[in-house]
Formats: sequence, C-alpha cells, structure tokens
Amino acid sequence: MANPITAPVYVIVLAAGKGTRMKSDLPKVLHQLAGKPMLGHVLDNLKAVAPAGTLVVCGHGADKLKHWLPIKHDTVQWVEQQQQLGTGHAVAITLPQLEAMKIPENAKIVVVSGDVPLTSGETLRKLCQTDSSFSLVTVTIENPTGYGRILRDQAGAVTGIIEEKDASDQQRGIKEVNTNIMAISYDLLKSIVPLLTNDNAQKEYYLPDLVGLAKAKGHAIETIAARSTWEVEGVNDRGQLQALERHYQRSLIEQAMRDGLSVADANRVDIRGDFTFGQDCALDINIIIEGEVTLGKNVKIGPNVRLKNVKIGDNSTILGFCDVEDAVLGESCQAGPFARLRPGSILENGAKLGNFVEVKNARLRPGAKINHLSYAGDCDIGENTNIGAGTIFCNYDGVNKHQTHIGADVFVGSNSSLVAPLTIGAGATIGAGSTINQDIPANTLALARVRPRIIETWARPVKVEKPAK
Ligand code: UD1
Ligand code: CA
Repeated sequence: MANPITAPVYVIVLAAGKGTRMKSDLPKVLHQLAGKPMLGHVLDNLKAVAPAGTLVVCGHGADKLKHWLPIKHDTVQWVEQQQQLGTGHAVAITLPQLEAMKIPENAKIVVVSGDVPLTSGETLRKLCQTDSSFSLVTVTIENPTGYGRILRDQAGAVTGIIEEKDASDQQRGIKEVNTNIMAISYDLLKSIVPLLTNDNAQKEYYLPDLVGLAKAKGHAIETIAARSTWEVEGVNDRGQLQALERHYQRSLIEQAMRDGLSVADANRVDIRGDFTFGQDCALDINIIIEGEVTLGKNVKIGPNVRLKNVKIGDNSTILGFCDVEDAVLGESCQAGPFARLRPGSILENGAKLGNFVEVKNARLRPGAKINHLSYAGDCDIGENTNIGAGTIFCNYDGVNKHQTHIGADVFVGSNSSLVAPLTIGAGATIGAGSTINQDIPANTLALARVRPRIIETWARPVKVEKPAK
C-alpha cells in the first residue's frame, strides 16, 4: 500500500506561454486532445491528488481561457502573468495569492504545465505521497535535446538542473531530464522563490533553479521516475499534438479491447469523450465516439459512423455511414445505412430507420419504421406505424416549428407530405402521394392527390432534324 497523501495539495498550472509554434489564435492549452482542451486533461489528471486549490497562470489568450473554463473546474483561480519572464517568474507571481488563501505551511505545492496533457494520476499521487519537502518527476530519454538535465553528485543525490542552453557539452550528454512536474512544501517554496535570478543564457527566471536552491539549503530532492515518456511529454507544435493524440487513442482502444470490446481496426476508432459498452459490442472501421456514449450488450456499429452523446440499448445495430447525435435508441433497434439522427431523436424498442432517413426531435414508439428517403422532425410516431418512402414531415411554416402526432398502426403511403400541426389517429391509412394538412380520424383512409387523366389521342413529339449548314 502506498502512503496516503498527508499534507493538503495546492496546484500551480503554468499556462501563460504563447505557444508560438502552434501558429494559432487559440491559446496553446486550449488545443484539443481527444476532444478536450489540453488544460482540461491537466485539470482532470490532477483530481487524483484532490487539490484543495488550483491556480492557473495565464497570459496569452487569458480571456479565451477564462471563457472556456467548464463548470466542473469551477474551483480554479486565475493568476495573470503580464510578461512571460520565465517559468520561475510564473510561480513567483502566484505567491501573493497563496498567501491570501492562508494555506497551511506544510501544504504541498504541485507545479505542472498546461501543455503536458497525459500525466497519469498514479505519477501525480506518487509525487505527493513522499515525505520529502521537494520531489520531482524525471525521465530518462535517448534524445534529451531541449530539456533541462538532472545533475547528480557521486553518491547519486540530485544537486540541480541545468538548462540545455546553459549546459556544457558534457552535461548535454546526460539523459535524465527534468519534466517540470514537481511538488514543494509551501514553507520551502516561499523561502527559495525570492532567490531566483535571471542570470542565464535566456535571461529568464527558471523554475528548475529551485532544485539547486533547495539543495543548497540542505533539502534532499526526491526523484520519481515517470512511467513512460508519453506522460511527461509537452506539446509545442501540431505535430507533437497529433503524436500524443495517436498514442492516447491507442491506449484508450487497447483498454476498451481488454474490457471486451471488438474492433475491426484499433487504428480506426477515435474516442473523444466518455465511452461505456456492454458485452459483445463490436465496432467496424472509422468510428468516432464523442461526448457521452453508452452501448448496451451486443450492439454492432457499422463502418464510418459518428456517435455523439448517444445511448443505445441491447442488440441494436447501426449500419454504415450514420451520423447520430443526442439520441437514445432502445433494444433491438436498427438504423442506417446512411441515416442521420439529429438531436432529440428517440427510437423505442424495435424501431427502425432505413437509408437516407433524417430524424430530429422525433420519437418512434416500439416497432415504428421509416425505411427510406424521409425527413421526420418534431413528431411522435405510434407503435408499429410504418412511414413510407419519401415521406416529409413539413414541420416548419417558415417562422415556427409545429408537431405531428401519429397514432399506432398507421400506414403512411410513399411520397406523402404531412403538414404540421397535425394529428393522425391510430389505424389510419394515408394514400401515397398525399399532402395532408388536416387531422385524420382513426381507422380511416385519407387521399389527397390528383386523379390521373387519360388522353388516348396523345402522340409523342418527334425529333426535328436541324438543317445542315
Ligand atoms: C521547461 C524546463 C525544462 C524542462 C522542460 C520539460 C524551464 C526553464 N525549463 O522547459 O527544464 O526539461 O520544461 O518540458 O522551466 N510558462 C509560463 N510563463 C512563462 C514561461 C513559461 O506560464 O513566463 C509556461 C508555458 O506556457 C508552458 C510551461 O510554462 O506551459 C513550460 O514553459 P516552456 O517555455 O515550454 O519551458 P521548456 O522550454 O519546455
Ligand atoms: Ca515546453
């Protein structure tokens, strides 16, 4: 059993940098990984250490950051860093706020970067579970270019960190590097931050210099090895973001397969949200899962399907090329191929949508079917009712939307227009090609179409030959 975290944890997230190499108007930490801003990942990962408070240092794009902040991170406080004078300076400017928060002297201050999205909860917990006044996550990598190098003495104790630009050739050969993920006890932090200087190659206040300063005051630095390079990797450009995305997607899908999901190709599924599924579900290729998606047992998803905020019951099937958003499907339903389920669509047990059918804010009661080429919006369709090919629910009069109510066991013939507001009673039949703009009583036949005229004397026109020039 690991130690519990004994001291209260407060977090500083560094997110003021411009992210020049992203070449973007959007602040770097708002660029998305798996459908969520990097900063969102960072804040979610930190839940593993249950912070008593979180300060995010922002600068570039501060307004956009504050605007993004979702409700679930409402305990976050912002600290504005007007000028980016370095990572050490970013931490220094949080001190007055920490002081104002009257946090305990023994609190652990965890520092992380907003552009390092995949740090595991396990590593963050280890960082906080030590008894040391200073702990630091390090990683050993083959190509340490660009990172600060960890300096150790003969006995192996950490003595400091040297930045790439300040390092000697010999120091550049060191492969153990600084991740800038650290935990420092509050009383120690307060005493060493004022000692930081910008006397270095970049004329910046370096956060990693705190390591040497703590050591000089007689504090031992405890290092925690990262589980992988991925979890400490930062994003500086879009190529790195894409690489982390692919790695993260791979890890999500591998976990899903361990949990019993069948996938046709682990490289052709993207999960951008919360995905849960029952036994024996299977995904064909090119599937995008967004928001909250829940599948029951034995749900099969065909190729090229996007599911966003969708709940699907047992034994249902989505055939290829469907787009399904904010919809609920019961058991043994079927949709597609080429169906579009827009927000508010509800298919009750055994309901069915066929090809080229669009539904929106539509409830299909058990066993109801719309099999071909139709639009059904703002409607409630009764049990076992069959909507024929090419039926259009005319729900919009150009100004307002209106509802259509159709009872059970109704048969709507092909190519009908149902002009809302409209009620069609149970058991009614609508003749093919009808435009229905008044309520239809139960168990009747409604016809609204022109009878054919037969003209027996008619002759087809003959083609006129053009004279040669
Ligand atoms: C830093 C470390 C380096 C480490 C590496 C790990 C320093 C000086 N060096 O380098 O030892 O190996 O991280 O990835 O810290 N930021 C601010 N305000 C500032 C400057 C930066 O908020 O004034 C933020 C940035 O937005 C970014 C984070 O701090 O999120 C890291 O800054 P960055 O400039 O990327 O540091 P590195 O050069 O990567
Ligand atoms: Ca960086």
